[in-house]
Amino acid sequence: MKLKYSIIISLVCSFIYSQNNYFIPGKEWKDTEGVHINAHGGGVIFVSGTYYWYGEFKTAGPEGNTALKGVSCYTSKDLYNWHNEGIVLKVEEDPNSEITKGCILERPKVVFNKKTGKYVMWFHLELKGQGYDAARAAVAISDTPKGPFKFKKSYRPNKGIWPMDFKDEFKSASGNESNLKSWSPEWLTAIRNGMLVRRDFDKGQMSRDMTIYVDDNAKAYLIHSSEDNLTLHISELTDDYLDFTEKWRRVAPAGHNEAPAIFKKDGFYYMITSGCTGWDPNEARSFKSKSIWGPWEALGNPCVGKDAELTFHSQSTYIFPVQGKKDQFIFMADRWKPDNPIDGSYIWLPIIITNGKPVLNWFDKWNLLDFERN
Ligand code: DGJ
Repeated sequence: MKLKYSIIISLVCSFIYSQNNYFIPGKEWKDTEGVHINAHGGGVIFVSGTYYWYGEFKTAGPEGNTALKGVSCYTSKDLYNWHNEGIVLKVEEDPNSEITKGCILERPKVVFNKKTGKYVMWFHLELKGQGYDAARAAVAISDTPKGPFKFKKSYRPNKGIWPMDFKDEFKSASGNESNLKSWSPEWLTAIRNGMLVRRDFDKGQMSRDMTIYVDDNAKAYLIHSSEDNLTLHISELTDDYLDFTEKWRRVAPAGHNEAPAIFKKDGFYYMITSGCTGWDPNEARSFKSKSIWGPWEALGNPCVGKDAELTFHSQSTYIFPVQGKKDQFIFMADRWKPDNPIDGSYIWLPIIITNGKPVLNWFDKWNLLDFERN
């Protein structure tokens, strides 16, 4: 009898002990089976009392940044403890498939469409063996948040469509711009004046790092690094979130922004991005606007303190509101490990708006209760 009780007590203790009660940014984050979470470049949604975290499933070794499995999903009730739900969008064995095993599939984001009742996943897709040249946006769909998601299509947005308020004089090239030296003042002016928008007009605009934002009025937008990562584009989605409306705008032309993440508070849209240094971290940037269509005011680096100039050795991926807590947003970022991508870790930090600007402070360890007390 005594033995039975002590076994039960030790089981209860080990259960309590293995529970996560904190976010510990940058450290190994074990799921409920004790395995480091594998959902990189991800996003989180909340459905009927449960959070769903979707991300890139990475593998060990140099090939680990290509998609060998697909998109993973984890569920949680409290944001600290995550249960592995497996692969919800699988790469395909068919070598002719656009999402064949070995393609590059990055930054998956899932949103719910109230009108159709479907879960829609958008992601950045690069066709197998083509490096980062294809620069496509891709979409998949599911009846439930746990999938399976069915791949629908991939393409470059806004083929044959000029952006909003694009001056007529920019619709054709002025002089011989193809010979301009990269990064010279003349070249930067040509980029700002739409040189690469014109270049890609017939085949569609590039879409690399991306996020999806659903506004209060249910309108959704793809925010994507375009024009060789030099300019962000915001492209409105159709009501079913499966296509583009042809309404789009450029943000921060020639600003060289990647990794967009966006949220809205008190009627203002805030966006956090990174610079472009491959898998290496760099200094984050932040922007603010009264309208999704801009003008977006640049506010500088939102990070403060040690390693703020390297975004605490990470790169933004998503921002989401904590349910039931007014104005509490969590910033999600990735600490990439390109030599062994499966080891990549997660930097989750609270965002505070101070003097009209988003601010990210480093915490070795924090939880939502700490935040409430402040
Ligand atoms: C930085 C991007 O943010 C990542 O998603 C990935 O595309 C790497 N570049 C590839 O170098």
